[in-house]
Amino acid sequence: MKSLGLKIEDAILLNKDLKKYIFYKNGKIRLDFKNKEALYLYNKMILKYVFNLEMDFHRDALIPTPINRYLFIKNIFEERNIKNEVQKPHSQIKNILEIGTGSGIIAIMIAKYYNCNVYATEVVKEYIKVAKKNVINNNLEDKIKIIDSKGKIIKGIPELNNKKFDLIISYPPFYSINSVPSKRSFGGAYAKEVELIGGGNYGENFSLKIIREGMEYISHGGIIGLMMPHKPKERRQILEREIKNLGLILKTDEIKTGKRIRHIIKGYNF
Ligand SMILES: C[S@@+](CC[C@H](N)C(=O)[O-])C[C@H]1O[C@@H](n2cnc3c(N)ncnc32)[C@H](O)[C@@H]1O
Repeated sequence: MKSLGLKIEDAILLNKDLKKYIFYKNGKIRLDFKNKEALYLYNKMILKYVFNLEMDFHRDALIPTPINRYLFIKNIFEERNIKNEVQKPHSQIKNILEIGTGSGIIAIMIAKYYNCNVYATEVVKEYIKVAKKNVINNNLEDKIKIIDSKGKIIKGIPELNNKKFDLIISYPPFYSINSVPSKRSFGGAYAKEVELIGGGNYGENFSLKIIREGMEYISHGGIIGLMMPHKPKERRQILEREIKNLGLILKTDEIKTGKRIRHIIKGYNF
């Protein structure tokens, strides 16, 4: 992989369509990242030229920041010592479950860079189609299975029955209890046929379910890893408490892309 990142100057040379979205501030070239089309084109470009991935995104969905997803994965796979116990080296993290894959970006990066087998779930039919296409376009069909969760988290999904995973990973959505399926809801999800799992004071119920249900599906030495926005802190605290209550070893980290802080909450099943 080349260095992480792509200069705006280089991006506009690689894709002339990006020219429409540039502006200058204090003499420096900038790209209007508030414009979704600009973000879409630029992130596709980063994926192609930095990560060697052919990715497409659903126009209504969240456009992921590739570098942030990569740092999330790298943090988990390249961790070494947890409370003086040697964590599984990444060569031993083989079977992965990703919950809420969207375009498939996390599953695809894991399969490509760490050579793992990934089951990745999603609930929105249109996103499932995009994710499946992305898997095929990157020749990863033998490594990644995209599964329709039909609105479930882990339990009750037939394809996951009796399976154990070395890593259960998610950048989860946060829905309120009576969330009305809408294109604008967080995560870009709009479920027409299934009810979205929401609830909790901070929309944390979806993530709590990942941790609780994950306990039955995690292998010995395995990890449950979630990425969370910086705010609200209370949401992170609830999840961290639950990890400890369930007997997992908690480890948290921060990753930064530009000014954006994301938190990684990990529970180790020793
Ligand atoms: C915050 S987005 C993350 C998407 C992608 N993993 C990424 O990193 O860009 C959360 C995703 O979870 C999906 N989702 C919501 N409820 C789900 C469920 N019950 N099962 C599977 N996926 C679900 C949403 O449709 C959305 O694509």
